[in-house]
Amino acid sequence: MNRLKQYIKTNPKIKQLFLKLLFRPKPFTSRVRRFIWLFTILPRYFNRCVSWSSRLDLVPFHSFRLGRYAKLEKDVVINNGMGDVVIGEEAQIGIGSVIIGPIRIGKYCGLSQYVRLLGMHHGMDPDRPHHHHACSKAPIELGEDVFIGTGTVVMGKKNGDTLRLGDYCRIGANSVVMDDIPPYTVAVGNPAKVVRAWDFNSQKWKKVGSEPISDNQISKLIASSNLN
Ligand SMILES: CC(C)(COP(=O)(O)OP(=O)(O)OC[C@H]1O[C@@H](n2cnc3c(N)ncnc32)[C@H](O)[C@@H]1OP(=O)(O)O)[C@@H](O)C(=O)NCCC(=O)NCCS
Repeated sequence: MNRLKQYIKTNPKIKQLFLKLLFRPKPFTSRVRRFIWLFTILPRYFNRCVSWSSRLDLVPFHSFRLGRYAKLEKDVVINNGMGDVVIGEEAQIGIGSVIIGPIRIGKYCGLSQYVRLLGMHHGMDPDRPHHHHACSKAPIELGEDVFIGTGTVVMGKKNGDTLRLGDYCRIGANSVVMDDIPPYTVAVGNPAKVVRAWDFNSQKWKKVGSEPISDNQISKLIASSNLN
């Protein structure tokens, strides 16, 4: 499969033909050809954890994986046109959330309502309409048991590096996350900043100053825990 993907990618004419089979010419609508929808997308709605009112905009050349007992609630939108979308087991994607790949969500993660994980950026030049620009990938990775408050936007990094939300971090409602958030922390605001860190000694959340918490501090916290 990988060799076939590589072959298509390195042959522009074949790639063009392949894309024509999938999409209308520009300006794009999000339509995927009906037969592909019928055979590759429709069956996914029979998974009892996928709401019938969710919208799966899936292309066959990137993967979409939903772990065991992971749940997509009402009106969730998943789009893997720019990269894989992988959702770990027992992850819960709340009502109205939007996930645009490339995105990896660890197991037990919880996205409240209307959370947006945006793994791509449009071009910015004003010379053409934005949807005629090539898009750039901005991958996002959520560790294990990350909880994201309602209305939060997580925007991938413009330089294309992976934005990481560490294990067990908590993001406040209506935050805008534009940078990595270390594990075992609470981050809030626009742009989101760390305000609490888990103290493994006292087993309590500890207040953090206005300065962003350093990786060094986090390593010390984890080193003093029983988890390493
Ligand atoms: C982020 C959150 C988990 C933190 O809860 P907490 O650990 O009890 O933290 P606190 O309430 O002590 O707040 C810590 C600080 O962050 C601030 N804060 C908390 N949530 C905030 C938010 N969403 N936006 C901005 N600031 C926030 C508090 O004012 C407090 O500031 P201070 O240190 O200056 O007093 C919680 O506030 C939150 O936003 N939960 C999401 C709720 C939600 O989406 N529910 C849907 C359920 S499906």
